Amino acid sequence: MVLCVKVYRRDYEKVKSSLKRDRDYLPYVEGDFLYVPVKEGKEAIQCDPPRREERRLNYFVKGVRGYYVLGHVAVIREREGVDVFKVAELILKLNRRVKSVFVKERVEGEFRVNRLRLILGEDNTRVRFKENGLTFEADLREVFVDPTMGGFRGEILKWKGERFLDVFTGYGAAALHMAKVGSYVVAGDLNLMGVKLALHNAKLNKLDGKMDFVQYDASKLPFREGVFERCLADNPTSLTAFVEEVCRVCKSTIALILDREPPRGWKVVTDYSKDLFIYQGPLSCHKHEVESDTLSQLLHESPVQVPGRPIGLNPDGG
Ligand SMILES: C[S@@+](CC[C@H](N)C(=O)[O-])C[C@H]1O[C@@H](n2cnc3c(N)ncnc32)[C@H](O)[C@@H]1O
Repeated sequence: MVLCVKVYRRDYEKVKSSLKRDRDYLPYVEGDFLYVPVKEGKEAIQCDPPRREERRLNYFVKGVRGYYVLGHVAVIREREGVDVFKVAELILKLNRRVKSVFVKERVEGEFRVNRLRLILGEDNTRVRFKENGLTFEADLREVFVDPTMGGFRGEILKWKGERFLDVFTGYGAAALHMAKVGSYVVAGDLNLMGVKLALHNAKLNKLDGKMDFVQYDASKLPFREGVFERCLADNPTSLTAFVEEVCRVCKSTIALILDREPPRGWKVVTDYSKDLFIYQGPLSCHKHEVESDTLSQLLHESPVQVPGRPIGLNPDGG
């Protein structure tokens, strides 16, 4: 017999720390209520929740890699020997809110957008989702979206400062986090659709009053020298082309790079492929004029000796 505590969905955040969760089972929703499996509890009732391992795709189809769900959309990667239609059917069965399943074929072009192929459900890639308490809308075919960066963006909420620039904002994910802690934020991108989504998302979260939105080419940033206290330069596949401009307008910058090994002191943000990772760290604005554009010379005051590795190693176009 499994026991659950029945709580109003809106009250779950308030009560969750007081519950003795039974981690072998998963919570489930019925109407306005959430049924949370517990080991014990005064007001616990009998219930029938799904077993945790029965929700894992790997339990049914061996060899399936992880997939992510954003709003009503699930995105999977194709893998040799795995029937994507079977996988898609299972995802729809296991996740009540998923209405469409797409295969991500690659990330392409300078806007870094996903090429997605519909497998099952409606062909609608405009999603609405939450991240760190903020609500976002994005069209997965129009703008770069990577939910695995949510943890990194949560760290932005600890930043201190007044004036921020999100140099490559996409749909405004990082910029909105900055707006929660800063007093003024500029969100810019070359992708006009991204800039429009960023403005839309700022309005959704009532943060537009302290933000500006600009479509620009970041190799010619339309700002004065040193006007921003802190910038985020999140364009790991082609950062070198923008370092000079970023250094001109930003007093300090956190950059994201794609590489096999991190420069000293840089942290892994997410894995990208088998051998490549995205790292975050402070952009050095002193070294890059000196010599060539090797990664460590550009990005770190005291480089780790790794000869001649260019930024933007990008084997699968992602
Ligand atoms: C890796 S994505 C990061 C987007 C965003 N920070 C996020 O996490 O969702 C890189 C972004 O750089 C933008 N971009 C590419 N070239 C650019 C340029 N020359 N000037 C400004 N933005 C550019 C792309 O449109 C894309 O939104």
